[in-house]
Amino acid sequence: MNLIKKIFNKFLFHFGHEIVKVDKNYRQYLESIDLIFKKYRNFTMIPQTTYESNLNLLKYIENITGDVVECGVWRGGMIAGFASLLNANNRHFYLFDSFEGLPEVKEIDGEKAKRWQANKNSPFYYENCKAEIGFAKKAMELARCNDFTIVKGWFNETLPNSNFKNGIALLRLDGDWYDSTMTCLEILYDNVVENGIIIIDDYYCWEGCRKAVHDFLSKNKLPDAIRSTPEGVCYVIKGN
Ligand SMILES: C[S@@+](CC[C@H](N)C(=O)[O-])C[C@H]1O[C@@H](n2cnc3c(N)ncnc32)[C@H](O)[C@@H]1O
Repeated sequence: MNLIKKIFNKFLFHFGHEIVKVDKNYRQYLESIDLIFKKYRNFTMIPQTTYESNLNLLKYIENITGDVVECGVWRGGMIAGFASLLNANNRHFYLFDSFEGLPEVKEIDGEKAKRWQANKNSPFYYENCKAEIGFAKKAMELARCNDFTIVKGWFNETLPNSNFKNGIALLRLDGDWYDSTMTCLEILYDNVVENGIIIIDDYYCWEGCRKAVHDFLSKNKLPDAIRSTPEGVCYVIKGN
């Protein structure tokens, strides 16, 4: 039987394929993240592969204490997914958003961003990313998470008044534009614990976001590498 398997595998390999044995726990994990995405698919605009890639990044904080913060939650589906996977841990979840949509694009955000905001009929416009706050609350309740705070308002007004006494283990930035990203980095970076992770959703999508990350790291002479998951999710491990 083994010989038949070997021959079959060789044959497939010849055509660029291979049968690999997937560990049972890993298969269960893959099934669970698939279910998590399906549970929150109406609460997030993030596509499944990217969404699951974000969930995979939780491995970095398994042994790190600290809270989870998302700036730019829209309907809360991404952070609720984090809460679903991390539920056993003692962490507080912070959800920051204007719930009034994105601020107006500026010159620094580039032509592509300008065109996106001007095209109100596009299926990807999502009412300029405006969401009812009730969705985010519902998403966190679906995750059976009681330990969360939703903070409504503009980042530059809400973040300076927030207190992260446990430190931040995972910071997810999803505010699209230069100013939004820069404000979050300037106010929150110091609250991220050493080896904590910062996920930057829009790094590959919007040039303003990209510039903000570069400007922030170089202005503060930080050594942090800009990393990417195989699926193209950008992240930074603080201090590395
Ligand atoms: C692309 S959406 C977030 C998507 C979400 N993370 C998900 O899971 O689908 C961007 C969000 O950032 C918020 N946002 C952007 N800049 C902001 C700012 N300066 N202050 C407050 N909210 C902001 C918008 O209101 C919007 O809900």
